[in-house]
Amino acid sequence: MKSYIERGVRVFHFQRNHLCRLIVSILQINWLHCPKIKATFIITALSANFRTKLMKRMSEAEKKAWANVAKAANVKSNKHIDDVYTEWSKVYDDDVITTGYCTPDNLVGKMMKYVNNSPTSQILDIGAGTGKCGEVLKKQGFKGIIDALDINRAMLDVARSKFIYRRHYNIGVFPDKPIPLEYGLYDAVICAGTMMSGHMEPECVTPLVRALKLGGYALWNIRHTDHEKEYKYRMEKTLDELVKEAEIEKIEEKLMQHCAVEFSVGNKLMAIIYVYRKL
Ligand SMILES: C[S@@+](CC[C@H](N)C(=O)[O-])C[C@H]1O[C@@H](n2cnc3c(N)ncnc32)[C@H](O)[C@@H]1O
Repeated sequence: MKSYIERGVRVFHFQRNHLCRLIVSILQINWLHCPKIKATFIITALSANFRTKLMKRMSEAEKKAWANVAKAANVKSNKHIDDVYTEWSKVYDDDVITTGYCTPDNLVGKMMKYVNNSPTSQILDIGAGTGKCGEVLKKQGFKGIIDALDINRAMLDVARSKFIYRRHYNIGVFPDKPIPLEYGLYDAVICAGTMMSGHMEPECVTPLVRALKLGGYALWNIRHTDHEKEYKYRMEKTLDELVKEAEIEKIEEKLMQHCAVEFSVGNKLMAIIYVYRKL
């Protein structure tokens, strides 16, 4: 008698567990089509303890570095940009390491694939900042000459202290003004982290490619974020016109990581890398 009762209880538990699982699956199938509910569901599913551990993963250095990245992404004017980068120049190189910033590596990797690595090759690093692209070019064995250009003197002073570049031009690039340098001089121009809202306008692709020799390469990135949607649209309009006028041809466009470290749980900044050739 006792064993019959025990068996009955086991069957009841078994069927109840299956029923519960079935209900949860049905709810998941319907709910998980909606991203917001999906996110809420996943977050709620994480225990409070686990969530605390994830939050704690962001160190003080990371919090400060991401705050500086956000500040720069939200600059509103040339005066504002100057203040932000003059301040940021003091810790920019540390923040680059903290956030795992990898766009200079990705752009230089592409550049080494296309540009002749000879002592006479000349590269212009536009928005050179503290000289990250120059550093990576040297690390990857580039033998040629590199010039730096940046609107902010403090950032450029950090670059100068590294003895990587031949010349350091403290000038800005604007769509309606030609860069006050000799046109058609460079085998390549590289521009990392500078084609973005509040920085170089999307129409600056035009002066950028005009600095190139015929057959030279222009390489730059934009961030793959909602914030840059309008910027991307305007930039691609400019590119379409330049392609139509047979000034440039598209070589590559690729989505790559912008920073290797997550800026929030499960989220990494991505960038689109552009490679064009002057015709
Ligand atoms: C995020 S930093 C990138 C620096 C460097 N290329 C790197 O990848 O580390 C952006 C740089 O663009 C410069 N910049 C912003 N607007 C500019 C403009 N219109 N012309 C030239 N440089 C500009 C800023 O002064 C800053 O040094």
